[in-house]
Amino acid sequence: MQSVVSMIVVSLLLVTTASRAADLTEKETKAAKKIYTAKCAKCHKFYDPNDYNSEEWQSWMVKMNKKAKLKPDQAELLSRYIDTIRTTEKVDGKKRG
Ligand code: HEC
Repeated sequence: MQSVVSMIVVSLLLVTTASRAADLTEKETKAAKKIYTAKCAKCHKFYDPNDYNSEEWQSWMVKMNKKAKLKPDQAELLSRYIDTIRTTEKVDGKKRG
């Protein structure tokens, strides 16, 4: 049940951030979202990248890319996608939680 809720949360989040992922083509954004929802919300809730500084996030991603068994190109695409989320939402210094 928890994973169903996570999926919904992730989907909503991804829908609202999609239009801002300017550096990625539509096709890449779609693929990245798919990886994110399929691989990353599998074991735990969705963690907001904006709650971490970039070093913290990077080191988690090294771990998590392994856990999610991402191929190098998937990991790269996901990281670019997450970067667009981070940079667009961190601008006003808004903190959550
Ligand atoms: C196989 C299960 C699994 C998958 C797949 C997975 N994770 Fe994790 N994740 C974990 C576990 C377990 C932890 C607890 C920390 C640890 O590993 O020591 C964690 C921790 C985290 C944390 C740190 C949470 C904290 O404590 O602050 C983040 C961020 C994270 N995962 C993001 C992701 C992302 C993004 C993906 C997709 C690339 C992903 N995870 C895929 C199991 C998974």
